[in-house]
Amino acid sequence: MISTVVWGTGNVGRAAIRAVEAHPALKLASVLVHNPDKVGRDAGDLGGLDCELGVAATDDIDAVLAAGPHAVVYAASGDIRPDEALDDIVRAVRAGAVVVTPALYPLYDQRNAPAEFRDPVLAAIADGSGSLFVSGVDPGWGNDVLPLLISGLGSTVDAIRCQEIFDYSTYEQEHSVRYLVGMGQPMDYEPMMLLPSIPTMVWGGQIRLMARALGVELDEISETLERRPLDATVTTRTMGEFEAGTQGAVRFEVQGIVEGEPRIVIEHVTRIHASCAPDWPTPPGGGDGAHRVIIEGRPRIEVSVEATDEGENRSAGGNATAVGRLVGAIDWLVDAEPGLYDALDVPLRPAVGKLGRKQP
Ligand SMILES: NC(=O)c1ccc[n+]([C@@H]2O[C@H](COP(=O)([O-])OP(=O)(O)OC[C@H]3O[C@@H](n4cnc5c(N)ncnc54)[C@H](OP(=O)(O)O)[C@@H]3O)[C@@H](O)[C@H]2O)c1
Repeated sequence: MISTVVWGTGNVGRAAIRAVEAHPALKLASVLVHNPDKVGRDAGDLGGLDCELGVAATDDIDAVLAAGPHAVVYAASGDIRPDEALDDIVRAVRAGAVVVTPALYPLYDQRNAPAEFRDPVLAAIADGSGSLFVSGVDPGWGNDVLPLLISGLGSTVDAIRCQEIFDYSTYEQEHSVRYLVGMGQPMDYEPMMLLPSIPTMVWGGQIRLMARALGVELDEISETLERRPLDATVTTRTMGEFEAGTQGAVRFEVQGIVEGEPRIVIEHVTRIHASCAPDWPTPPGGGDGAHRVIIEGRPRIEVSVEATDEGENRSAGGNATAVGRLVGAIDWLVDAEPGLYDALDVPLRPAVGKLGRKQP
């Protein structure tokens, strides 16, 4: 069995505990937490399972890594503390672990990652023989393996569009929703995630991965942005009120320009309430969220994926599929050479050994 640590127990970490527990080749060895209130709590409780798993959460990073785990799912925040997250990940790789994480956007396209991210990881791999695979946003597979797979069904392919269409009232990360994305802020507020060049920083790596897989050269990566105010004040389930006149919906594109045309596009349509920007794309089933791939060409091909978890929650479903991709890669990575891997290197495989398998 592959001893596996889950490090961080927020949205991603909760799902990671469940995914590791459900994987026939993995054994949950430890759960690392930062929040002192979680120390000592059982992993089953932290993972939202109805049973105890007999693994008490700890904040003792040294002890957990000294035990020599085979793998680490790094699910602690990376966007608000990228340097610390990189340090943690480097430490685990140097300890010899296969590390999988969604937390370091710059390493999605590791070949083109800034040296300050790539070099310490490569040094740690050389020292400790661990590995690193970074994937996750939208939720990883939606902007790399899925569109590339579907593109192979086209005769002519004019453009590939990957959409994330979400109602963020279900996304349990209020700081990100209100401040990084700017929902509920005055229309002259400039949300950090939407500042020029930030979308390219986050999603450009996936555009480059798709271009590489498709064998095309990008002229450049460009961005578009539209925002809409709420017509009326709305009340959300967990984040309270969002006032009329404040930002209620955002639509942006990160465009890979090929021979002057936007041919590889990652598009986000994000609302805080369904009433805002009803003319923009909506999930096909009318629910809270979907990931959609459209291959423009002949034939035109459209695939929508709607995942739900933790009740009927689409955000939790998206997180869980991002986690499924990462946790499902661990046994492949353990068998592969130590290294720094991206989504084109690591295959998405069927759920071998999981069909019908009981989870506690
Ligand atoms: N959701 C996705 O599909 C997705 C996609 C792409 C990228 N990501 C990235 O993945 C990371 C986790 O996302 P999430 O939605 O799970 O976030 P989250 O719910 O906010 O959870 C993050 C966890 O990080 C830990 N943490 C917080 N502050 C810390 C600190 N100062 N030092 C060490 N640990 C700290 C906490 O773990 P404990 O509570 O256990 O102490 C917290 O629960 C983020 O960087 C996010 O941007 C997520």
